[in-house]
Amino acid sequence: MARFFEDALTYDDVLLVPRRSSVSSRSHVSTETWLTPRIRMNVPIVSANMDTVTEWRMAVTMARLGGIGIIHRFLSIEDQVVEVEKVKRIENFRIERPYTLTPAATLRDAREAMRRYSVSCLLIAGAEGKLAGLLSNRDIRFETDERRPVTELMTPRERLIVAHPEITLPEARELLRRHKYEKLPLVDENGALCGLITSKDIVRFDEYPQATKDEKGRLRVGAALGVKDTLPRAEALLAVGADVLVVDVAHGHNERALAAISALRARFGSSVQIIGGNIATPSGARDLVSAGADAVKVGIGPGTTCTTRIVAGVGVPQLTAVLRVAEALAGTNIPVIADGGIRYPGDLTKAMAAGAGSVMLGGLLAGTDESPGVTVMRNGRKYKIARGMASLGAAAGRRAGDGGGGSDEELSHYVAEGIEAAVPYRGKAEEVVEQLMGGLRSGMSYCNARTIGELQANAGFVRITDAGRKESLPHDVEVL
Ligand code: XMP
Repeated sequence: MARFFEDALTYDDVLLVPRRSSVSSRSHVSTETWLTPRIRMNVPIVSANMDTVTEWRMAVTMARLGGIGIIHRFLSIEDQVVEVEKVKRIENFRIERPYTLTPAATLRDAREAMRRYSVSCLLIAGAEGKLAGLLSNRDIRFETDERRPVTELMTPRERLIVAHPEITLPEARELLRRHKYEKLPLVDENGALCGLITSKDIVRFDEYPQATKDEKGRLRVGAALGVKDTLPRAEALLAVGADVLVVDVAHGHNERALAAISALRARFGSSVQIIGGNIATPSGARDLVSAGADAVKVGIGPGTTCTTRIVAGVGVPQLTAVLRVAEALAGTNIPVIADGGIRYPGDLTKAMAAGAGSVMLGGLLAGTDESPGVTVMRNGRKYKIARGMASLGAAAGRRAGDGGGGSDEELSHYVAEGIEAAVPYRGKAEEVVEQLMGGLRSGMSYCNARTIGELQANAGFVRITDAGRKESLPHDVEVL
């Protein structure tokens, strides 16, 4: 006999009850949180592992702002590795393994490498890694002969300012200031290249004190993988410094997903941080944790571009899902990531109050400058294209690209559980995050919470009616 579980609620069904508060300013609250037991963040926001949301640009922005981005998995292993590498190289004021070319390379090779790695300069290194020169895009801007060797175009070693690899940040800043140079290659006593410091990276290093960084000062980044090529993909991603792996399966409480997590844990031991998902029940969470997950991602069907609930008839409204999973994991150190359905800043506060350690955003970030989605104009307004990862468009795209996908025949029978959509253009991701964080800080002060832990301890929800919801929105006026 089928069972009826309980009434389940989502963000719009509830409000947090205000309480006496001694928090006198929003700036007095800390939003420090944990993505996994070993990854601390100042901002509880994660950009979704969707191909219209997170590639390296979004991941860099999210980590600089204090959250994190998860590079989607609908790329070949090689291309996903490049995305992760780009993030890991960017923020550290000292780039350990700068992109290099050999002196035999041509202008064509240089242009190709600059495009592939999105860099504006390359170092030229000869036998035994000896620094031969530096090639910047200024050196090649108007050059037309693609066969010219880079050695004819680069600034040679003897005209470069270089430094010892142990140079400190203040020393490097001073050297670049004095010589008005942009790049400082690092070489050892044998003249071998062992790093690069750029003025841009120093400026950024100072600019984002909230940033989510690893122990070497590099920005943190996550990467998603599925159940097909799990181990080789994980191996390659970890080799370039991915900080966390997300086993990304629509139904994470599936034995193949659990087996993939166990296999990762068995292969890489405690050195790897694993997020499992997606699930929507306490038993799903317990099974992911038993398989070896360090954090669980909750959300079956709440997302902007999801149709799982309509197509499959399956899902749990998101607030109840988060609340129940968080209850089940209370007393453990396993954080919950509330994935999908965040539309307003108040939803972030509600998700965190319900027990989430962070939220994952798709639709809200898909419309920003940093998302890889295409920009389109409609009726004079700007939009970006977002697509559910289980949409027909995404499945067809996977087939056309390297991310795996079926034959024509398989595609014609594909039952989509997502849609493609035009989402309003929202400017910079930073502005979206700022609005969300302003709302969270405000919500915390209404709940007398100085920390996320206090918010969760103090939170009291009331269920509201349709009339209550109408009252919550602007009403009886023309909204300007
Ligand atoms: P938001 O609401 O932030 O949600 O856009 C993002 C999350 O939506 C999930 N997602 C999907 N769910 N079919 C689904 O049922 C899909 O095609 C699909 N694509 C993304 C995913 O969990 C994401 O993080």
